[in-house]
Amino acid sequence: MSNGGNAKILAQHFTPPAVAQLVWDAVRTLAGKELGAGARVIDPAAGAGALLGVVGRAYQTTGIEIDAGLAEQGRSQADRFYTGDGLLGTLPEVADETFDCVLANPPFGKLGPMLPLLGADVSSRLAQRFELLDGQKQMRSFPVESLFVERALQLTRPAGWMALILPEGFLANARRQDVRDWLLARAEVRAVVALPGAFNKVQTALVVLRRSKPLTRPKARLIAPVGKRPSEQYAQHVRLLLGSSARRAPEAALLSVGQRALCAQRWDPRFWQGRAAVRRLAGRLRLVPLGEYICHLTYGPIVTGSRPQHVEAGVPVIRQGNIAETGLDERPLLCVVPAGAHDPPRSRVRPGDLLLSRSGAGALGRNRLAVYLGSKPANVGCFVDLIRLEGLNPFYAWFFLKTRLGREQIAAYANGVGTPNISFGEIRALQIAALPSTYQDGLERRYREQVWPLHCRRERADIRAEAERRFRAIVGDLEDYLQTRTSA
Ligand SMILES: C[S@@+](CC[C@H](N)C(=O)[O-])C[C@H]1O[C@@H](n2cnc3c(N)ncnc32)[C@H](O)[C@@H]1O
Repeated sequence: MSNGGNAKILAQHFTPPAVAQLVWDAVRTLAGKELGAGARVIDPAAGAGALLGVVGRAYQTTGIEIDAGLAEQGRSQADRFYTGDGLLGTLPEVADETFDCVLANPPFGKLGPMLPLLGADVSSRLAQRFELLDGQKQMRSFPVESLFVERALQLTRPAGWMALILPEGFLANARRQDVRDWLLARAEVRAVVALPGAFNKVQTALVVLRRSKPLTRPKARLIAPVGKRPSEQYAQHVRLLLGSSARRAPEAALLSVGQRALCAQRWDPRFWQGRAAVRRLAGRLRLVPLGEYICHLTYGPIVTGSRPQHVEAGVPVIRQGNIAETGLDERPLLCVVPAGAHDPPRSRVRPGDLLLSRSGAGALGRNRLAVYLGSKPANVGCFVDLIRLEGLNPFYAWFFLKTRLGREQIAAYANGVGTPNISFGEIRALQIAALPSTYQDGLERRYREQVWPLHCRRERADIRAEAERRFRAIVGDLEDYLQTRTSA
């Protein structure tokens, strides 16, 4: 079968060699003697054999790839390499429960577009082979990676191992909770290693599992980078953490989580690290959900079928793009008809309102927030949340959400596949340290005196850079204060 024209449908994103090596090193380290020489290793969506290519000749390797051209390339990487369907195919010497280890970076996305490539009578054959499709009304929108997870489990012998590269959505989306719980009932999660930047369009993680019955299971090791952008050292530090009892290396941090705790929960390391950081802080400081201070929470109007048109002397609308690092960039504001559909009274801003980009990797993903300092009527766009606070200084809330603690809480909600989003419930649940109001007001004063005057002249690059430096200094000082301070 040649699928040369279907590269997109088949989600052909190949594993870079360094990541493939990390996948194999991770599962071998965790499995120890259980994955010794002679073990049988299979990749049911093998591409050109990137994962099998690092396994080494001491093992018996098998690859399956639906695209004949890729399979041809992969043949030299494995002892056996079939052109065929890794989900439904019946292939010689590929029997269920016979492999010591399954490696896979399966295709991600909806099953629907792939169905025509899987042959006749595909729906009923899929329904017969996959438990996860039981009761699924919308087979076409079912995520194909989940089927490959079930296929991996079918191929693995009891007490055998799986090392799977999966999209963050599999680990983080509430809609995939039933699949995670289904898997957890059949396998133990030994490690989840965030793989930031390994693939261009989607955040992924390596999930290492061992097929086993529940109970008496060791803890899962969840690993994520320490900083925002990991360097080349990250993979090395992941290896170090997997192979020792250390909890932290300069570039990577490990958290051990019990298998039971993973049940009905997310599995992504960032989420757990965010929770752990909040818990550590809660041991020293009183934390309050932001919701307790919110007296008004809304977003701009969503007007179906009508894009806002600029009118001279209209009411300005603050959109995501107007939220710069150091405050609102009011120069290119679109103005709409006053009191029209794009200017409802409920989302008119007031001085002191905290504005948050609620969607998108470039906005929410970058934690874009600002406090409105204007005095004229203005409104917000549909992707901007307006948060009106009482009893909490909005500048302090802004700076707190820019600290690592705030960022990680937001990131924990905002990840997954597709556009990141944060809901009203999630905004209300963000935990804020209740610091003395004199301290909060001091931060506002510092911003107004040191940052705002430069922010207003930010069209000059050097001035903008200095404003950003001063802004970061405020956030950095707050971070230090939070590190050392204990509630009376
Ligand atoms: C994300 S790529 C990864 C390839 C390879 N494992 C790697 O790590 O570089 C997924 C591969 O699965 C193949 N594929 C998609 N559906 C398949 C199926 N039903 N059976 C076998 N291979 C399939 C695609 O053609 C693609 O090469």
